[in-house]
Amino acid sequence: MRVTEAVFICSISSISALPTDGKPEFAVVGRSNVGKSSFINLLTGRKQLAKVSATPGKTQTINYFLINNSWYLVDLPGYGYAKVSKVQQQGFGKLIEMYLTKSRNLFCTFVLLDSRLKPQPIDLDFIAWAGKAGIPLALVFTKADKVTKSELKKTLQVFEAELLKQWESLPPVFVTSSLKKTGGNEILDFIASA
Ligand code: GTP
Ligand code: MG
Repeated sequence: MRVTEAVFICSISSISALPTDGKPEFAVVGRSNVGKSSFINLLTGRKQLAKVSATPGKTQTINYFLINNSWYLVDLPGYGYAKVSKVQQQGFGKLIEMYLTKSRNLFCTFVLLDSRLKPQPIDLDFIAWAGKAGIPLALVFTKADKVTKSELKKTLQVFEAELLKQWESLPPVFVTSSLKKTGGNEILDFIASA
């Protein structure tokens, strides 16, 4: 699939405001600073469609982007950002959980994971929660440019072994670098076939 059109539609902080036009939605979730906004820019081939920042915790609302006038990319707030207040943090968690469990048009949720890190408890918790809730997932390893091929292989192996302790099969796995602009086409093909 080629992205010919990518338009920011809205930023919402309550799920009562979700678009209701029935177009398929593909959500992007992950820890603060893992590269969600950069990932959206990679997929859409736009430099600043989603705002990338040096300060984690930037995206605190649900942001809708309409792609090729036919499906949505949905940028979710980061989870697990320690510096926001507890109340706010719970709010982010709630907003993410509400969206993921209530959205009727959610085709797949891309869970972004940092290629440099071994499995983080919060990511494993999120995947376990989403799996139990029946939310369709795909894993996306980000910042692949920051590791060697063998380090990347190790990260993938360790992560997969960790998930196989809980699950019989693995979700689709992708590797991306928004710096090198790699991995986006495979994901667009996956979206096209979903
Ligand atoms: P929040 O909205 O704060 O939760 O962050 P986010 O997950 O949207 O991350 P964002 O895309 O803003 O990127 C965070 C930082 O990581 C920025 O400094 C990006 O430039 C950097 N970054 C993101 N993706 C990559 C990548 O593939 N390679 C490298 N080297 N840096 C990346
Ligand atoms: Mg962001």
